[in-house]
Amino acid sequence: MTVLFEPHRREAQQFAVLLGSDVHVAVAPADLARLLAEYPGEQLVILGPGVELGDALAIAADYRLSRPALGVVLIRHRVDVGLLGEAIRAGVREVVPTNDPAALLAACARSMEISRQMAPTTGRRIGGAGFGGRDAKVITVFAAKGGCGKTTMATNIAAALAAGGARRVCLVDLDLAFGDVAIMLQLVPERSIADAVALGDQLEEVSLRALLTPHSPGLDTLLAPAGPAEAERITQGLVVEVLGLLRGMFDYLVIDTPPAFTDHVLAALDASHVHVLLTTPDMPALKNLRITLDTFDLLDLPKENRLVVLNRSDAKVGLSASDIERATRASVSAHIPSSRDVPVSINRGVPIMVDSPQHPVSKSIREFALGRLTNPSGPAEPSRAGGLRGLLGRGR
Ligand SMILES: Nc1ncnc2c1ncn2[C@@H]1O[C@H](COP(=O)(O)OP(=O)(O)OP(=O)(O)O)[C@@H](O)[C@H]1O
Ligand SMILES: [Mg+2]
Repeated sequence: MTVLFEPHRREAQQFAVLLGSDVHVAVAPADLARLLAEYPGEQLVILGPGVELGDALAIAADYRLSRPALGVVLIRHRVDVGLLGEAIRAGVREVVPTNDPAALLAACARSMEISRQMAPTTGRRIGGAGFGGRDAKVITVFAAKGGCGKTTMATNIAAALAAGGARRVCLVDLDLAFGDVAIMLQLVPERSIADAVALGDQLEEVSLRALLTPHSPGLDTLLAPAGPAEAERITQGLVVEVLGLLRGMFDYLVIDTPPAFTDHVLAALDASHVHVLLTTPDMPALKNLRITLDTFDLLDLPKENRLVVLNRSDAKVGLSASDIERATRASVSAHIPSSRDVPVSINRGVPIMVDSPQHPVSKSIREFALGRLTNPSGPAEPSRAGGLRGLLGRGR
């Protein structure tokens, strides 16, 4: 059951129809209090756009303390970052716009899932070590040369791991200034990692969850900000904190990166169990892979965490895999063929893994993801390298 509080009966009716048969409607605060007292196991209350903002925040703040497992979803005619921050601080789990029924249903589903995980039988608390009870494996996709296919790989690996909801995956766009994840997945970047800056001390699993943009069952994203100016405000410490929290909420984190050793990339590499190092069969990419491997050595990033992937492996004029292995002294873990269907799928905003699961590109990425990235015998702990951090990334 769900409780919907909306003082305007007409709107209340419309939302009730959308939410299905199991909804109790309150049109006044007294109705809401009565319903919630009557149903102590209730896990979700939706506050409609007709509820005054001040009242809505007071309700959320009140139940946050007295009934922490009760999720509050707020519907507003306009959603902006200021409102989002205020709502999250009051204890609202999600804020959704009036005209987006799909977002409302997805927000309700996420809130119910959190409540289920917080049910008293599980003994988990807000703010505890990963109340989501998960301990994600962290995979960073990196190449020092631009345009190797990092974002293509990251989005398709994430889709392969999520497998339509079989696993819970978060794709994190750490290409903070020029992130492409939103555009490759046709997502509207209403919220991004930059909104975590404003949360300050309030940054915890529930507030972070409100910054995620869902893509499909099992696959959520934490998008990059809209432009470089916002990216400037994101510190390395914030990235460490965000990744730490996300680990408690998902089975896998897949991190897309810019083609540079920024502070943020260094933080991601440190926090990763696996480094997927992409290259393409051409001399500049090969030279950059060699430099990357040397840099990883300098940074004490463990060799056993590295998986070299050759993208566009059958490009007609390219170097062979053995040329690459000879030049880099690293073995190639996967070969992803070249196909014009890849840019076609990118332009359509649907990962080829989802659009054509039997395509040779999809098959090879899936084989790699399920064979090498879900492998329980892989590194049990993230890199946590010490070493020459100060030489790289500082002052960028
Ligand atoms: N296997 C492939 N076959 C054909 N084209 C590919 C393949 N992989 C990637 N591409 C194309 O290469 C281009 C660059 O891909 P992508 O944006 O994923 O690279 P990137 O490494 O993330 O780039 P950047 O460094 O700019 O972030 C895209 O146009 C994409 O369509
Ligand atoms: Mg990219």
